[in-house]
Amino acid sequence: MQTHIDGCRIHYELVGEGEPVLFIHGFPLRGEMWSDTARRLAPRWRSIVPDLRGHGQSEATPQMSMARFADDLAELLDHVAERRPAVIAGLSMGGMITFEFFRRHRNRVRALILADTRAAAETPEGAARRDAIAEAALRDGSKTAADSMIDQVFAPNLSPTIRSHWYAAMAATSPIGVAAAARAMKGRADSFPTLPKIDCPTLVVVGEDDTLTPPSLMQDIAERITDSRFVVIPESGHVPPVEQPERFANVVAGFLEQLPPLTASR
Ligand code: MLT
Repeated sequence: MQTHIDGCRIHYELVGEGEPVLFIHGFPLRGEMWSDTARRLAPRWRSIVPDLRGHGQSEATPQMSMARFADDLAELLDHVAERRPAVIAGLSMGGMITFEFFRRHRNRVRALILADTRAAAETPEGAARRDAIAEAALRDGSKTAADSMIDQVFAPNLSPTIRSHWYAAMAATSPIGVAAAARAMKGRADSFPTLPKIDCPTLVVVGEDDTLTPPSLMQDIAERITDSRFVVIPESGHVPPVEQPERFANVVAGFLEQLPPLTASR
């Protein structure tokens, strides 16, 4: 399905019936990374799964920010007539957007799922790396981003077929989208001051072998959030919903089942 938000075509999938969960993918991936999770939750949960602006089948715009990503998602919830507070689940860049969504749209949040992400603002070295990724993508195409990231994103034990599929997906991401998202991440706010303000149930989850956002980093995030649960997914790198779909979905389902009823959650 697709709609236009702020003049930009946004593709999204709706999976299942029930209470809402918004899934926000990582960089430079697409909503499809959640397809197994959404399918497993479908009997009980309504998953709203966009391709972020500049990714997958959504249109790219050259200037992006965490705020624009977050506002696109709030407008998408309006578009799918979702007025109930939603569980907001974000992986990596999706987690950075989740922090921004929480700051900007608190009344739309029922609970958070933070997967393999970071709370800190960009370091000077990180900023230089983001600029290099953006420039290479615009000059030589998104294959440059896929080449530089594939080994960091997926653990070596991932099946070669799945790995090739996601390499192709990364390489097929719009170069304008890659550059815009890389620069948006570079400009992200420090979310550490937000962590003690998170006043909803929060699942913090990470792949055991994630080298980009390792378990120690995620545990530190969990310890700063009052009502948090911290789970490490064995035998997974940076993208557990793709690398260990069943284990990941079971952890998410267990968290969702224990949420306070929707009417009493705010
Ligand atoms: C992601 O998965 O969104 C990226 O790895 C984020 C990053 O490069 O920090």
